[in-house]
Amino acid sequence: MPSNDFKLAVLVSGRGSNLQAIIDSIERGDLNARVSVVLSNIADATALKRAEKHEIEAVFVDPTSCADKAAFDRRMIEILKARSVDLVCLAGYMRILGNKVLQAFPGRIINIHPSLLPAFPGLNPQKQAIEYGVKISGCTVHFVDDGIDTGPVILQATVPVYETDNEESLAQRILDQEHLLYPRAIQLITEDKLDLNGRIVTQK
Ligand code: GRF
Repeated sequence: MPSNDFKLAVLVSGRGSNLQAIIDSIERGDLNARVSVVLSNIADATALKRAEKHEIEAVFVDPTSCADKAAFDRRMIEILKARSVDLVCLAGYMRILGNKVLQAFPGRIINIHPSLLPAFPGLNPQKQAIEYGVKISGCTVHFVDDGIDTGPVILQATVPVYETDNEESLAQRILDQEHLLYPRAIQLITEDKLDLNGRIVTQK
């Protein structure tokens, strides 16, 4: 299939700067894919507005309108399947995906996390890095499994941590790398350049 027929769904909850980086890479011609749908669990996520600005379908899935977590997951799967998405990209999506969603898209869900995993998974990784005193941090793109930030690592990028850093300055330095790394990782998948053996990802 022509590569710009590779359909992405991007799941967001907030600002959406990684979504923007993906959109910009596509528009520059660096990433051969298209964003078919942006899904948010938060009604007023800035990311939804970014999608609309680029005429990308932006859907708010209201968790309170679903009877329970299972119903929410069913709704997500329904939307993603209806658009035949090839890859689901979590980009600041602050909700844990249920097993049913993982099973519906095996090996087809990826996430970006602002630390060098397995260091500092979960919430506030930049704060964790500063408080631990590491001298190098960075970001990780990984496949999503049923743990929190535990899936097979696809790509990582490093940044220095300075004595003068606070959470915000480190987060910004890492974010600049995220915006380069995430589109690159997606491009590798669109080109079918990754092999996954157990938890080891290699480039073909
Ligand atoms: C990024 O730091 C990402 O790594 C983490 O959440 C943040 C989302 O930022 N998972 P944005 O919404 O893409 O601007």
